[in-house]
Amino acid sequence: MHKYLVLMAFVLVALLPACSPKKKQSEPAILENTLRNFPDVYPEPLNELRAERGKVIYQNKCTTCHDLDRKIIGPPLRGVTQRRTYNWLMNMILYPDQWVKTDSIARALHKEYNYVQMIIPDGITEDQAMAVVDYLRLESQKGAP
Ligand code: HEC
Repeated sequence: MHKYLVLMAFVLVALLPACSPKKKQSEPAILENTLRNFPDVYPEPLNELRAERGKVIYQNKCTTCHDLDRKIIGPPLRGVTQRRTYNWLMNMILYPDQWVKTDSIARALHKEYNYVQMIIPDGITEDQAMAVVDYLRLESQKGAP
């Protein structure tokens, strides 16, 4: 009997998301800390003002481990916006610990970079991640100096 209850609970949990009405992207996510489905293609054109904001965030939160053109603790990030989809980047930046377990490219990178865990100082919001992605798009367009 107990076994069946546990099974039912699992089935319910699995089915619940299917029943809830479609959420708009801006609503606070129930799925906090879970991988998300972002569009593959950039949802908005490159916004230079947001990219400027992204540059500051990048300098504060990313440069301990990343350089645009050199491998340091993590991979060089110039050109990454051409290598990866928007969905890939947003999940990597927002949920790196889960993305490296789920996505095969991320898993391979994680191995290549000696299983160093990408941990972002003081975390990062979705809005900040979008700004950093715009900064990386801008730098990727410019090409290496
Ligand atoms: C503590 C070090 C560390 C910090 C801080 C960090 N990263 Fe990373 N990052 C890594 C490592 C290591 C990898 C390689 C994959 C892995 O092992 O997780 C990586 C991989 C990536 C990738 C995939 C690169 C590719 O070639 O596909 C992106 C994109 C990325 N990081 C973006 C960021 C951004 C943006 C920030 C700042 C908001 C950031 N990272 C902060 C260590 C870090």
